Amino acid sequence: MEKYIVGNWKMNLGDGRGLSLLKHLATLKIFPGVRVVVCPPALLLREAHHTLSPGLALGAQDVSAHPGGAFTGEISAAMLKAAGCQYVLVGHSERRLYHGEGEALLREKVRQVQSHGMTPIVCVGETLEEKKQGGALPFVTAQIRALALSGSYLLAYEPRWAIGTGLTAGLHDIQDIQSVLKEQFGAPVLYGGSVNAENAPDILALPAVDGVLVGGASLDIEAFSKIIESTPK
Ligand code: 13P
Repeated sequence: MEKYIVGNWKMNLGDGRGLSLLKHLATLKIFPGVRVVVCPPALLLREAHHTLSPGLALGAQDVSAHPGGAFTGEISAAMLKAAGCQYVLVGHSERRLYHGEGEALLREKVRQVQSHGMTPIVCVGETLEEKKQGGALPFVTAQIRALALSGSYLLAYEPRWAIGTGLTAGLHDIQDIQSVLKEQFGAPVLYGGSVNAENAPDILALPAVDGVLVGGASLDIEAFSKIIESTPK
């Protein structure tokens, strides 16, 4: 099965450094069985599409739940598709946390993405508090169920407490949680949260890990290439 290496730049590198990173990425040798997806800031999507294709795929970090019209500041799924996107992150914890995105809105976003022929990468993950209270798995399972997903999608398990903190979930926990998610939902499951060049080989070697969603380390060409190279062949 294919392994996904997804780089989420978040709100970084919107300047010349982003363009130079894209040019470097375009020169990387990608082995069969590895799918690299780059999610730069929206303003770089068109440029990224021209620079990256055909070897690497393009993803957006967010999408509007509406097809078009008077929604100031929003970007529709049709616009992302036209810019060359094949994937869209939906429900990233930073969107849920800082923008109050809830289930009803996320369901619409997934629908918009799928109906425009793109694949949503649906992000879920528990806080430390939620992990302590009821455990990660019941929380994450409920988060996914609430979206009533169907059709083609990827899941990304990103414990909130592991994002940008340098902490990662234990390898056993990742394997245990993701194997249940894979079985219950029948979709590929990526792991995210402080993935870097050092821990990626062990995480990617886990049978229940279909790839990684990388934040900080995707901004560094050396670290990101090492992560790509460490994908089991
Ligand atoms: P970090 O890799 O910086 O922890 O970010 C993870 C993430 O949120 C990717 O979407």
